Amino acid sequence: MKHVVVTIDGPAGTGKSTVARMVAQRLGYLYLDTGALYRAAALAVDGAGGDIDDNAECGRIVSETTIELKDNRVEVNGTDVTDEIRSSRVSTLSSRIAVHPSVRKVLLAVQRAFSDQQSLVVEGRDTGSVVFPDASVKIYLDASATERARRRHEEMISKGVAVSFDQVLTDVKNRDQRDISRQTAPLVVPEHAIVVDTTHLTVAGVVQKVVEVIQEKLADK
Ligand code: DC
Repeated sequence: MKHVVVTIDGPAGTGKSTVARMVAQRLGYLYLDTGALYRAAALAVDGAGGDIDDNAECGRIVSETTIELKDNRVEVNGTDVTDEIRSSRVSTLSSRIAVHPSVRKVLLAVQRAFSDQQSLVVEGRDTGSVVFPDASVKIYLDASATERARRRHEEMISKGVAVSFDQVLTDVKNRDQRDISRQTAPLVVPEHAIVVDTTHLTVAGVVQKVVEVIQEKLADK
């Protein structure tokens, strides 16, 4: 690993994406949203009529799919799917496809290749534990399930999606359960990770804290 890699892991709704994007901007590093890769993979399998719960079939389809991240846009086989992959349907499909070792293997290589090019802030569920176990700095963002559901619900309502808070809370808990209990690369606090609880912090507060942790860690090296 020639470049600096900062990993940010944690459950859904901790503000990882927003925080990782802003931290990357502050440091001048590339932002890598690994969840977008799982979402794009799920959409590809769904679009191909594949069985999302079949490990071998998903692995085959994903290995034949071209997923590209370009300037915060996501393309699957040349089609822009940036907005489509954010639907709640794709959220659920992505956590189902993420349990498959065959899919994780294909996406592992895709993710590691990014660090050949430049320094990265990479965000996901297993980026500090599996994808970049030798990362320069590892962060784990957390927040209570209720607070995470509250944020998600607010975001969805602001986008005009009619959904109840209870439904969002149930979805958050189900996704947590799948992410934590899967056999391959479950969501864990990576070894040597700094845990930041975001429950009572603003986004700007989290970004500031994370940047300080990174600068301290890099100065020690
Ligand atoms: O972060 P997100 O909500 O966009 O992620 C979508 C799904 O992808 C999530 O349910 C878990 C999975 N995922 C994963 O298993 N490993 C990653 N590194 C990133 C996401």
